Amino acid sequence: MVRIAVIGIGGWGKNHVRVLNELDALAALCDANRERMQLYSKKYRVPGYESVDSLLKKEELDGVTICTPASTHFAIASKVLGEGLNTFVEKPMTTTSSDGESLIEMARKARKILTVGFIERFNPSISDLKKMFAEGRLGAPILLEFHRENRRGDVLDVGIVKDASVHDIDTARWLFGEEPRVVFARVGNVKSDNEDFAAIMMGFSEQRTAFITTNWVTPARVRTLEAVFENGVVNIDFVSQQTQVHEEDGTRMPRLVVQEPLMLELKEYLTAIEEKRQPLVRGEDGLMVTRIAEAVLASSRSGTPIFMKQ
Ligand SMILES: NC(=O)c1ccc[n+]([C@@H]2O[C@H](COP(=O)([O-])OP(=O)(O)OC[C@H]3O[C@@H](n4cnc5c(N)ncnc54)[C@H](O)[C@@H]3O)[C@@H](O)[C@H]2O)c1
Repeated sequence: MVRIAVIGIGGWGKNHVRVLNELDALAALCDANRERMQLYSKKYRVPGYESVDSLLKKEELDGVTICTPASTHFAIASKVLGEGLNTFVEKPMTTTSSDGESLIEMARKARKILTVGFIERFNPSISDLKKMFAEGRLGAPILLEFHRENRRGDVLDVGIVKDASVHDIDTARWLFGEEPRVVFARVGNVKSDNEDFAAIMMGFSEQRTAFITTNWVTPARVRTLEAVFENGVVNIDFVSQQTQVHEEDGTRMPRLVVQEPLMLELKEYLTAIEEKRQPLVRGEDGLMVTRIAEAVLASSRSGTPIFMKQ
């Protein structure tokens, strides 16, 4: 049995706790908020800790998942990797690319897994689309257009680019199977001190392009992707996991079993630990996405495209 502790049991971490418990891998949990820690420790009958230091000192673990706010990821992941444990960090892996480089080096030295919560790769509709890219039935891919929109009242420690757009930045580079050559973006803020809307254009080889629009302003939850190919268009709703494929001879909706992406994502983490192999999402993906997010913000400040180092 793989023994995992969840660090940070807030809005999202409580889902990690539930799923890891279902997978029989939940060994302990940790949250700086004592009440929350005690609540979940009691609910799942596992030891709870208020500090990462006491968790790491007392428990024999194979790994952790880190579900604390973005600005704490680097310090906590450094401690965990320093103890030689496998490490799953929620997105964004780090808030700066230099911190990302340091984590990758620590994981390499410890010979442990460093992975990042780019959950959309485990969304069955995106896995299906990835297969369509490989099969080539729809012809060459041309454009990806992402919409990720909902109203958000609370204040986060990072803006929308590093919090939400990172999902679509990773999905675009994963689907196209390469890194963007150029990034151009405009961001702004309506309701928050950090940017709360972003329009991002990423240019890949052979004119392939991804558009990402993200905002915390729209009073409706929208999470969609349109993928345009030479011979067809695919529309995906990330929430319902519905996929529509439009071709010249009509529209089809591939039959799809709805599955919880977090369950698939954490299963992959546990299996990679058991098999002592690299997971689908690597620390290098987390680093690259943070680099692109930095280019997005730089482009928005300068009003110019940013050409990425190849
Ligand atoms: N993959 C996804 O779809 C998804 C969805 C939501 C959030 N997230 C990510 O999950 C992470 C957490 O987001 P959230 O919405 O749950 O935040 P949250 O604020 O609701 O919860 C964070 C929790 O971490 C605890 N915490 C903070 N610092 C700590 C420390 N040093 N040690 C121990 N506990 C500490 C807080 O007490 C709180 O309970 C973020 O990185 C976010 O981007 C991912």
